[in-house]
Amino acid sequence: MWTSGWLWALVAVCAADQLREEAERIMRNTPVIDGHNDLPWQLLTKFNNQLRHEGANLTRLNDTHTNIPKLRAGFVGGQFWSAYVPCDTQNKDAVKRTLEQIDVIHRMCQMYPETFTCVTDSKGIRQAFQEGKVASLVGVEGGHSIDSSLGVLRALYHLGMRYLTLTHSCNTPWADNWLVDRGDDEAQSKGLSLFGKSVVRELNRLGVIIDLAHVSVATMNTTLRLSRAPVIFSHSSAYELCKHRRNVPDDILQLVKETGSLVMVNFFNDYVACKAEATLSQVADHLDHIKKVAGAGAVGFGGDFDGVSRLPSGLEDVSKYPDLIAELLRRQWTEAEIKGALADNLLRVFEEVEQASNHRMAPEEEPIKDMLEGSCRTNYGYSGAPSLHHQSWALLASLATLLSLCLL
Ligand SMILES: *[C@@H]1O[C@H](CO)[C@@H](O)[C@H](O)[C@H]1NC(C)=O
Ligand SMILES: *[C@@H]1O[C@H](CO)[C@@H](O)[C@H](O)[C@H]1NC(C)=O
Ligand SMILES: *[C@@H]1O[C@H](CO)[C@@H](O)[C@H](O)[C@H]1NC(C)=O
Ligand SMILES: [Zn+2]
Repeated sequence: MWTSGWLWALVAVCAADQLREEAERIMRNTPVIDGHNDLPWQLLTKFNNQLRHEGANLTRLNDTHTNIPKLRAGFVGGQFWSAYVPCDTQNKDAVKRTLEQIDVIHRMCQMYPETFTCVTDSKGIRQAFQEGKVASLVGVEGGHSIDSSLGVLRALYHLGMRYLTLTHSCNTPWADNWLVDRGDDEAQSKGLSLFGKSVVRELNRLGVIIDLAHVSVATMNTTLRLSRAPVIFSHSSAYELCKHRRNVPDDILQLVKETGSLVMVNFFNDYVACKAEATLSQVADHLDHIKKVAGAGAVGFGGDFDGVSRLPSGLEDVSKYPDLIAELLRRQWTEAEIKGALADNLLRVFEEVEQASNHRMAPEEEPIKDMLEGSCRTNYGYSGAPSLHHQSWALLASLATLLSLCLL
């Protein structure tokens, strides 16, 4: 009896080894493109973005989910690095802080050219795969980073932003966030305001991917119907399996399917299992569910590494991706479906976004004041009466003129 027990154990171990080898074989040609990684936030909070700080060496960095050896071991070939600034910078220094996070991503590419290559299009990602480098792209996390300005939005595009998450965990004056669905925030735009719709049109025109992670269901619904190109959820899981409002409900997954959009699954325990502990197998359940409801073409990975405090056992850092792929092989995913989830689905969406872009089309104009309720924006062209500030300076100037005349 005991010998057959041993035999089965041996067979199981060998089969697991084989799946892991098979996963690595697939990933050598098709590495993973991950939708969301917060290493730039770690660089800010740990080292104030000083990449030359001795602890900040990305080869040796060891108290983060991400470093260069881990990226290599995980077959990560593409990464949207998050340019994230917290909601409390809204209407304050959000734009400046966003520029600094974009800058640190560019400096990562510059300091480690043998590992990272900063790219801005799908061709660049394919080229990086060929060269064995990590294609590095900028995702701006949170609509508050544009400070209700289409001019800022366009400038961020020129600095490399290739997705914009419409909100973080706060409303912008033009789009509602997921806390609205939990009753912890008031609905303001009922999805998107008029200005929010012009933001979506401008992202389409420029060829920036629209990211619906963090937004309310109404914002998801409105945007999926409005966008001329497919969209992504850069780091969200399936609501049906864990009823957290950061996740994507099934009726929205239906729209994802109809629009050829993409859900890149978040690994945060609280979104995977709705509790503090989770497993790699539960992450695979989310992948299975999205595949079942929206199709294999709608599945991707957005681990949220270095942006979360708790990760599933078996997926503790970015080096563990091949184990997740081995699990999908065990669940009978075909090689084509796996390559889709790894990279091909994101590349397809990105290419469709690029094809739908139109740089010859007239840019969206900054809106008039009425469209910007709740924002602090000054509409220079529309200031009817001069401000009190201007009036008092004018008064002072005339007094000075009078005085100087009297003195003469
Ligand atoms: C980081 O450390 C590695 C090995 O310890 C070293 O070879 C490399 O030059 C360092 N890189 C930078 C940018 O300091
Ligand atoms: C992590 O890195 C620091 C700084 O380079 C080093 O002092 C420490 O020994 C390392 N820890 C481990 C577990 O490798
Ligand atoms: C999305 O909007 C449509 C109307 O535009 C509505 O019929 C549908 O119920 C909405 N779906 C969700 C999930 O809110
Ligand atoms: Zn996030």
